[in-house]
Amino acid sequence: MPQLRGAVILAAGHGTRMKTTLPKVLHPVGGRSMLSWAVALAREVNAALICTVVSKRTGPVGKAAAQEVGAGAVMVQDPPRGTGDAVLCAADMLEGFEGDVVTLYGDTPLIQGQTIEKVFNALADNAGIAVLGFEAADPGAYGRLVLAADGTLDEIVEAKDASEAQKAITLCNSGVMAASSSLLFSLLGDITDDNANGEYYLTDIVALARNRGIKVVVVSAPEDEVMGVNSQAELAKAEALFQKRMREHWLENGVRLQAPETVYASWDTQIDPDCVIEAFVVFGPGVHLGSGTQVRSFSHLEGAQTQNHVAIGPFSRLRPGTEVSANAKIGNFVETKNAKIGDGAKLSHLSYLGDTVIGADVNIGAGTITCNYDGFDKHITIIKAGAFVGSNTSLVAPVSVGAGAVIGSGSVITRDVPDDALGVARGRQRDIEGWAASFRKRKKRT
Ligand code: UD1
Ligand code: CA
Repeated sequence: MPQLRGAVILAAGHGTRMKTTLPKVLHPVGGRSMLSWAVALAREVNAALICTVVSKRTGPVGKAAAQEVGAGAVMVQDPPRGTGDAVLCAADMLEGFEGDVVTLYGDTPLIQGQTIEKVFNALADNAGIAVLGFEAADPGAYGRLVLAADGTLDEIVEAKDASEAQKAITLCNSGVMAASSSLLFSLLGDITDDNANGEYYLTDIVALARNRGIKVVVVSAPEDEVMGVNSQAELAKAEALFQKRMREHWLENGVRLQAPETVYASWDTQIDPDCVIEAFVVFGPGVHLGSGTQVRSFSHLEGAQTQNHVAIGPFSRLRPGTEVSANAKIGNFVETKNAKIGDGAKLSHLSYLGDTVIGADVNIGAGTITCNYDGFDKHITIIKAGAFVGSNTSLVAPVSVGAGAVIGSGSVITRDVPDDALGVARGRQRDIEGWAASFRKRKKRT
């Protein structure tokens, strides 16, 4: 039977170096909080038990963590006294847990599941502890990995406690560490706060393990994957790396990106093969584009799904609840929200379509507006298959336009229009012969 797995996610630090009121681990990368990334990673590697450690001082983190893992799996570290002390806060929850435990920091959002698999696998290969390390271009404040002659790990020295020679080491600690639950807590029982920060360091368990003759190994990952976020500059760097990863993924999977570096993704953006994305397109969360869909420049999409061969943009805004069927077209300066759009429908110019169901092959004229909100409630507009809505029409919801009906341009439609009828609702045109000429004459005289 495979070994049971657990994860402890450390999220109790405020992250003062961010200089924001929002606690660090709630800052987003790819539209998803760093805390959420850590929880998703734990789930991806099938952790049966996920414990999140938070601080009393950062209330919103506790709330967010409870939503992610359930209130019972959120432990409070009060006050935060270091990463080792934080893992100890999970001791009660992990008591008697007969499996391997991985520590994940809430500020390293780019780590991949397959890398954590390698860390667990090292334990299966008879290491007592496995530490995920990386070669840092600029090791700065990272903990340094001090290797023994045989390549195993002797100790981790925090930058503040390192000698000059140790500071020159470029192999650094990512924060990810795995050990059997029993060994982890047994070693943590021996850590002290005898260091430059006066904190209980998780990293001290490595030297303690060596003293007990336990083998500690390093598993390596590229820096781009394990970088920690402590400042706004590092958050921006993590975001850029995430975006690069998404773009590369699409380019490898049959998506044409006209100017990849100008297309912005969210964590869950899905683009099927044969889609074409022009320059300057932003995807908020919840977007899935069906094969052959084209998104033209300067469009913003969130919470929107398309079937195949849909045309969007330039300058379209698709908001949550937009579902576009095959071969439909949404053109420039069109905003949709909670809108189901039928096969082959055309919404080509300057419209707002909200809380609406639009049938197949409907044509929405330029400047059509669904008046969906009365200041209190939202109301539905139904436009049935084959209807033709003339330009500059206001559809005052709740209202429906029948199948095949035609709406005269400039109408304010307040009642349901029957199938195949013409609905017109505007002042009749009146022409007064010669009026303009006599008006001008009169004005010129005075
Ligand atoms: C830590 C590591 C360092 C490593 C680096 C990788 C230690 C002592 N140092 O340093 O070796 O190179 O991460 O990014 O572990 N946290 C708590 N409770 C606490 C303190 C921190 O839950 O009392 C949480 C924080 O919210 C954060 C994580 O632990 O998510 C790491 O804390 P942070 O202060 O950022 O550690 P670093 O100084 O970056
Ligand atoms: Ca950190």
